[in-house]
Amino acid sequence: MILEFNINENTFQNTGENILDAWKKEQNKVFILKSDKTGDDIRNFYEFFCKSFGKIYELAEDVRKGDRDNQRTNEKWMEVRFDPSFKDAYRHSSSEQPLHTDGSYIPNFPNATLMCCVANSKRGGETIFLDVNDLVECLKQDDVKLLNDLLSEDFVHERSGDKRTEKIIHQLEKNKYLINFNYYCISKTNNPKKLSMAKKFFDYLCNSDKIKKKIKSVKLTPGDAVTWKDRELLHGRNSFIASESSERFLWKCAVNLGK
Ligand SMILES: [Fe+2]
Repeated sequence: MILEFNINENTFQNTGENILDAWKKEQNKVFILKSDKTGDDIRNFYEFFCKSFGKIYELAEDVRKGDRDNQRTNEKWMEVRFDPSFKDAYRHSSSEQPLHTDGSYIPNFPNATLMCCVANSKRGGETIFLDVNDLVECLKQDDVKLLNDLLSEDFVHERSGDKRTEKIIHQLEKNKYLINFNYYCISKTNNPKKLSMAKKFFDYLCNSDKIKKKIKSVKLTPGDAVTWKDRELLHGRNSFIASESSERFLWKCAVNLGK
């Protein structure tokens, strides 16, 4: 499920094409990119590299802009940076972030997110992934009723002025599923029955030992990036230990892989 590529300026085009070939294979879902770049130039490096395999969308958000409904900046890159002066924002906290998809509330969200690493904490802070196929297998064993509810009911997600209505788990064909879920963006306009389904699913993701065993984790080091198929995985973050602002610092953008 997880592939790794080394990249440098001289081989951008070849590596981009290799990533696109690998992207077409169903089983490949998470792509780790290794470079020797560090510091402030990393965004430019990856922005240029992205041109070899896709297009970055301007969907960034910034907590300094306003509340959760008004954070869109219409820029490409957004910070995922430890800064305890911002309260109630996973992007700036050191706590674990529950499993979710990034495009849950954005109808035109592209097929991937990319994050590149300026700095990471010494302990913790791994990005975690759960393949939707593993999720479905766990639910089949643990709670078929909940699985069927998630496959059949439409849920509204909303945030930052955007609204998206989808099934949480969408079955495309026999063994092919897509997922769309962020508990904190589930709209209060969903009826009480759906709100309690979403809570039940969220609790299951947070507490199931079966799910924990299926989670894969990736620890980024400075210069690395990771990109993944947003609709085919849930992702989140392990908690980490940090004492200073920017001790863990990733730049993140939404990108559509493919040309
Ligand atoms: Fe995310």
